Amino acid sequence: MSSSYREEMNKLQESGRLRQLRPLSGRRGCRVQYQGRECLNLSSNDYLGIGGDSHLLLQFYGGMETENLLDRYGLGASSSRLLTGDCQAAHALEGALATAYGGSEPGAALLFNSGYHANIGILPALLGKNDLILSDKLNHASIHDGLQLCRAAHKRFAHGDYDQLEHLLLTHRHHHERVVIVSESVFSMDGDVADLGRLVRLKKKFDTLLYLDEAHAVGLYGQKGLGKAEEQGVMADIDLLVGTFGKAFASMGAFVICHQDIRDYLINRSRPLIFTTALSPVLLNWNRFVFQQQQGMTGQRHHLAALARKMRQAMEDQGLAATGESNIIPHIIGNDQETVHLAERLQERGFLIFPVRPPAVPEGTARFRLSLTADMGWQDLCELPEILANESGPGQAGTGSTR
Ligand SMILES: Cc1ncc(COP(=O)(O)O)c(C=O)c1O
Repeated sequence: MSSSYREEMNKLQESGRLRQLRPLSGRRGCRVQYQGRECLNLSSNDYLGIGGDSHLLLQFYGGMETENLLDRYGLGASSSRLLTGDCQAAHALEGALATAYGGSEPGAALLFNSGYHANIGILPALLGKNDLILSDKLNHASIHDGLQLCRAAHKRFAHGDYDQLEHLLLTHRHHHERVVIVSESVFSMDGDVADLGRLVRLKKKFDTLLYLDEAHAVGLYGQKGLGKAEEQGVMADIDLLVGTFGKAFASMGAFVICHQDIRDYLINRSRPLIFTTALSPVLLNWNRFVFQQQQGMTGQRHHLAALARKMRQAMEDQGLAATGESNIIPHIIGNDQETVHLAERLQERGFLIFPVRPPAVPEGTARFRLSLTADMGWQDLCELPEILANESGPGQAGTGSTR
């Protein structure tokens, strides 16, 4: 029986698609030990460098006393939030999120155990068989999985093709009770940004809801680091704004910002919220601590944006396509095996870059997803563009992502 799985994995190996776990250790800021070598970590989502900041961690744990150990630093919630897993720390975090995101509009926040839980738990709870979801084709796997769990119909539009989205709305809007447009703000594998202004105009014109996944934007954009909706001044027009604590906030968990009625409804209907153990007190308190700290990290945000601009320019100077508009820079190689081998060569030279292959990205667009973080400096990166150009060979330079 198990040999059939082995055969399948042998095939994955041959095609360059075998996935394996790869333990890291010895973290110091943006550097880690990998296979006995110190490497610059270019594959992390710790965008603000919070996860590698031991001072911040000491500050958090510095408040530890015997009296507050369980409420503040406890490691397990021991049941779902709907039983005895709910605690003041969860409400304090939701309150902080609702206040920051709400501005003058009274909004509400609801926690999930991860962005994955949020994306598979919100749409299936809110939508029924008379409804329709229109989703960008390059939305994250968790959104696609959420669509599979929905009783509502769904259609996917080509990445960033809002003319096609408008056409779909013109054709189908009147057949459905509720329609939801779903998009990421910063796309995880291409580092490009949705046109939020256009999405908001379409939402208003066709009376739909707008669901925005800001997983790769929270912490990085806007005065308070709330994401692209804050930066572009459209927060009040986003009906469901999902953020995760797993990336720039160096933790675990996620949240949705929504109307109070939707929050109350999700508490009654969202299965990944109801049927799982709640986040632990220590995570909830760390998340609130980091959320407050990051609001003042404007310097890190500016530094990272400047670093990404410099990296893109240096890649272009080497004849490499450097698409995207964020700290995520895709370097597309195309062939899976070549991407695997090239990643190994870069790892040997001290750059921790992992190959990203289908199904995480479309067929024929295997790539490196260079993820710059605020704890890097130019001295860490300056050699990389030339190495990439030399190692990639003439065939790869300038290959664009398929849309
Ligand atoms: C766009 C997007 N949404 C959601 C998630 C899932 O978030 P989490 O890691 O908190 O489960 C990811 C993770 O990679 C993502 O890229």
